[in-house]
Amino acid sequence: MCGIVGYLGKNDCVENIKEGLLSVEYRGYDSAGISYIHDGAIQIQKRVGSVANLFDSITCPTDTHCGIGHTRWATHGEVCEKNAHPHISFDNRFSLVHNGIIENYAVIKDGILKDIPFRTNVDTESIVNLVAYFRIVNPKLSVLEALCETLKNLQGSYAVAMLALDTPDTIYFARKESPLLIGKGDGETFISSDVLGLGKSCSEYVVVPNGVYGYINKDEVKAFEESGSDVCLEFKSMISHSERAQKGDNAHFMQKEINEIPTVIENTVKIYLNEDNPISKVDKSFWQDIEKIEFIACGTSYHASMVGAMFTEDNAHKVARTHLASEFVYNPPLLNKNTLCVFVSQSGETADTLHAVRVAKERGAKSLGITNVMTSNLASECDVCLPICAGVEVAVASTKAYNAQVTVMMILADFLRDGDYKDIAEKILSQAASIDLDGMWASAKKFVKRVANSSSIYFVGRHMDYITCLESCLKLKEISYIPCEAYAAGELKHGTIALVEDGTTMLAIVTEPKLISKTLNIVEQAKARGAKLIYFTSLNLKDFAVSEKDVMAAPKVDVELSPLFSIIPMQMLSYMVSVYKGYNPDRPRNLAKSVTVE
Ligand code: G6P
Repeated sequence: MCGIVGYLGKNDCVENIKEGLLSVEYRGYDSAGISYIHDGAIQIQKRVGSVANLFDSITCPTDTHCGIGHTRWATHGEVCEKNAHPHISFDNRFSLVHNGIIENYAVIKDGILKDIPFRTNVDTESIVNLVAYFRIVNPKLSVLEALCETLKNLQGSYAVAMLALDTPDTIYFARKESPLLIGKGDGETFISSDVLGLGKSCSEYVVVPNGVYGYINKDEVKAFEESGSDVCLEFKSMISHSERAQKGDNAHFMQKEINEIPTVIENTVKIYLNEDNPISKVDKSFWQDIEKIEFIACGTSYHASMVGAMFTEDNAHKVARTHLASEFVYNPPLLNKNTLCVFVSQSGETADTLHAVRVAKERGAKSLGITNVMTSNLASECDVCLPICAGVEVAVASTKAYNAQVTVMMILADFLRDGDYKDIAEKILSQAASIDLDGMWASAKKFVKRVANSSSIYFVGRHMDYITCLESCLKLKEISYIPCEAYAAGELKHGTIALVEDGTTMLAIVTEPKLISKTLNIVEQAKARGAKLIYFTSLNLKDFAVSEKDVMAAPKVDVELSPLFSIIPMQMLSYMVSVYKGYNPDRPRNLAKSVTVE
């Protein structure tokens, strides 16, 4: 949800900003832009569409050493070149990129800035115009002081990087809630929304603390609290530079990421089987006296958490429930020091999930993050954080991260039972090794046309299969735009069956032997009313009138591990349906990979 980058150093800033933007482009595909100071003026170049499109269609000087860039996921104002970032102040002396939402921008625009001309209806413009306004009203203010004054007037969330014509070799920054990192290399400083956007030459980095602003120039990085007091930024060594993910032989990142799933599961388990594993590094007292566990997440991570909660209750014999982060904050359950709140997030930056962390902590609960990004806000705000080790996930629709999250939560559930998760870890390892990806692609492919040509789809299943239905349904709607719903099979007869008519496509997920007849009896009722069924199963359905041509093969795995592996062919099906319909599965319309606004 908007990525920002900045570069100040001895090399060409445009090339560095381009590299940074390509790495954080997953945060928004609506438009991209760059700003630097050249020929005594602030220069801005921006285009609707991708970062590649921007740099293909502009020419920039190669002798600039300080600049900022942005990739946008629109929140305020339609997608068009004018609304793309960077935004320039009304007096053309400041340019600024922003990730977040300024909630009171209309109040600022119609109030303190009522006589100032605005060029767009983007909330960000109120920030850059405020800085310019404060400098004009009080010319004694330094740029930094004008920025500080501006921040006092803002409500909402922001990570910003700004250039000022008066101080050409300086990048100003500020952060409240939205993520921002600074990286340093030899004679170079980078700023970015994500560690991925920091240049390869960075040897150290720091996550800018919440509520802090400051500046970067060639001599120093200075940071301050709102009160004006200095903040000491503690830079850490860069552990390793993730290469910018490449698609390799795959047509899309989503295809690549699905193909990586067995390896990701394997790598994750191996890390947790190491002597020096992430759980062993947690102080033992953290795990003591836990009476109940609340899992909190959004989107795909929420579905993974549902598996986690089910596993935890079954195996650790503790009360475990799942909450949507956006609901949890308004209606939290009773929490106390004996409650473990588990926050699950691929990006570690989802605003709703971070808000929920703060609510849980205020109420005295223990907080445990499970994330793919250990430099994220989630990792720094939770008492303890466990990595999922999925590697960089680029496609907006999450796939391999789901499997890695489920893996970690299965391990955690057994750990919470008696501290020993070796058996489940080894069981997962052996099943992952037997996954036949080619067979799965082939089986899913047979159903692509049927699904793609359906005007709507209902997914039905029970118990663990119901969770797989929810995640399969989310995947399909995210990238194929086919209206679909997932139902617990038993609920069908309580309303939804009214929607079934001749030709309605229904996809029944049946991976638990004990539930075959219960699920299929319900499905029969829909079939009798005209529904056309696809059965996703590896079980023998011979006692039911099921034709072979309607069976999509589910992986044959230990039933306990079904949610971890059954989702894979469904991810493949969604991917192929999207491609068949001519869409780009990596960049679904209206969606962002990292949702940093509530
Ligand atoms: C967005 C993404 C989803 C993701 C959800 C939660 O909506 O498009 O794919 O599942 O955010 O993201 P998180 O990073 O918290 O797992």
